[in-house]
Amino acid sequence: MSAARTIVHLASEMTPLAKVGGLGDVVGALAPEQARRGHDVIVALPAYRTLALPAGWTRVAADGCDLAWGLGREAAAFEIAMPPAEQVATGPAHDGAPAAPAGAAERGGRLRVMLVDHRGERRFFDRPGIYDDPLRGQSYADAAERFLFFARAALEGLSKLGARVDILHAHDHQAAWAPCFMRTQLAERRVFRDTATVFTIHNLGYQGIHDPWVLGLAGFGREVFYPAGPFEFYGRVNDMKVGLSFADLLSTVSPRYAREIQSGGEFGFGLEGVLQRRSADLRGILNGIDDVTWDPERDRFLPEHYDRERPEGKERVQAVLRKECGFPATPDWPFIGTVSRLVDQKGFDLFEQAEADLLRIDARFVVLGAGQPRYQELFTRLMIQHPHRVYYRAGFDERFAHMIEGGCDLYLMPSRYEPCGLNQMYSLRYGTVPVVRATGGLADSVEDFDPEHRSGTGFTFQRYEPAEMIGALRRALTAWRQPPVWRELMHRGMSRDFSWRVSADAYDRLYDDARAKLAREGQMTLESLRAQA
Ligand code: ADP
Ligand code: GLC
Repeated sequence: MSAARTIVHLASEMTPLAKVGGLGDVVGALAPEQARRGHDVIVALPAYRTLALPAGWTRVAADGCDLAWGLGREAAAFEIAMPPAEQVATGPAHDGAPAAPAGAAERGGRLRVMLVDHRGERRFFDRPGIYDDPLRGQSYADAAERFLFFARAALEGLSKLGARVDILHAHDHQAAWAPCFMRTQLAERRVFRDTATVFTIHNLGYQGIHDPWVLGLAGFGREVFYPAGPFEFYGRVNDMKVGLSFADLLSTVSPRYAREIQSGGEFGFGLEGVLQRRSADLRGILNGIDDVTWDPERDRFLPEHYDRERPEGKERVQAVLRKECGFPATPDWPFIGTVSRLVDQKGFDLFEQAEADLLRIDARFVVLGAGQPRYQELFTRLMIQHPHRVYYRAGFDERFAHMIEGGCDLYLMPSRYEPCGLNQMYSLRYGTVPVVRATGGLADSVEDFDPEHRSGTGFTFQRYEPAEMIGALRRALTAWRQPPVWRELMHRGMSRDFSWRVSADAYDRLYDDARAKLAREGQMTLESLRAQA
């Protein structure tokens, strides 16, 4: 294990405090795992109104400050939230808290969350939604400003805390400006003098692209806006590109996705050239899963528990799920589940195109998710037309997500692209055999079933076509009809280890390498980046 360090994560989500998708799960599991390893870990998170602080956590105010902001100033406020000390000492007593850093106390590690608030008139975070305004179902119009402020203010808060930061780890476009501010406006701050920066891409489909006026808010003049420079992207400003340019090292959440995003526009969304240029600095580290929260042996949301040696409990979970969905009582057909943001990325247009074939398959579908109206309407209509075949629940429902993982036989994830994906790994752990498109992290975590050699953990298909998806589902159903084959398949999947330990090792190495690179090559600056352009 590498030396204990002060690690700061900047992220817009962290479970269970604030979650929209997998980013929350990743930060909420990686940070406590790093504390368990003896690191001093701080997660900077916006102080959303909807924050759900777990029972027993403390929350104390810290000094706030005023920031220069465009032509004026904006007020920032900070609070430090911490898990209870006894949890730190005794380990993962899981009541929905981020896995408590067991053993961290002995190793000197700790976990703190720095809540970054905005006290200006517009109250960037004191709103009903995290990214989207629930009333309009759209992103807040001032999204650019909200997260730019978050990144800038978080660094100010860290400066005030006073501890030297060894690693600044920024996640996705919402935090992407932090490495830039650290190397420019705040380069002289004592706490950041020795800081290496890492930027992780969780999803290149969301980049944060704005008109150049944001530069003024960020405190930069027009002279930094030159073609192909870090701030310029086809005449606009791209948050993700800023992060990719200034960070010492880059990572994304699976090895396959790291290759795909450099391969061309389909996965790179216009940033493939930037990524190719930084190819030597980019790693793919497969996410882990929080194996305390997602464990069929102790899942607090399941009516029955089971494990790979005694999988019978799963049938009872399915019986409860069946009732909840209003499906007929006979356990004749397999249940196929999906829990997802309903967006194009996740492959829901394949559902649309394959509707007739899907309904010809002898299976029942359970879908949980919210997102684009087009897909909400599709599943609502299917449920009304085929109440015994399709059950759809809109909205965000953590308990039901666990019930789907626990009670279904198959899990369908036909993503167009998938940086990592977590539900296929939860599914493997729950004996819910995944059917996935072989892309990104899905390809890296699910191995295609081979009936001849009786190997593999799920069913994969290559081309993004409805017929391919139906073909994979048909193969899955054939295997399901052979109970001994199916039991083996479930057992193999349930035996896979996707715990965070392996990934946290890889992040430790990434941090070591980032520090070595910084020592060797020095800090990125506006000038050094201009010289490279
Ligand atoms: P992404 O981050 O692209 O949405 P991931 O597979 O990485 O995809 O993570 C999605 C996470 O969000 C999973 O933990 C999943 O269970 C959860 N999730 C998505 N939609 C819902 C929902 N409607 N209700 C409950 N959990 C959800
Ligand atoms: C993103 C990706 C997803 C990944 C998650 C966490 O939201 O879409 O594939 O698992 O981030 O890294």
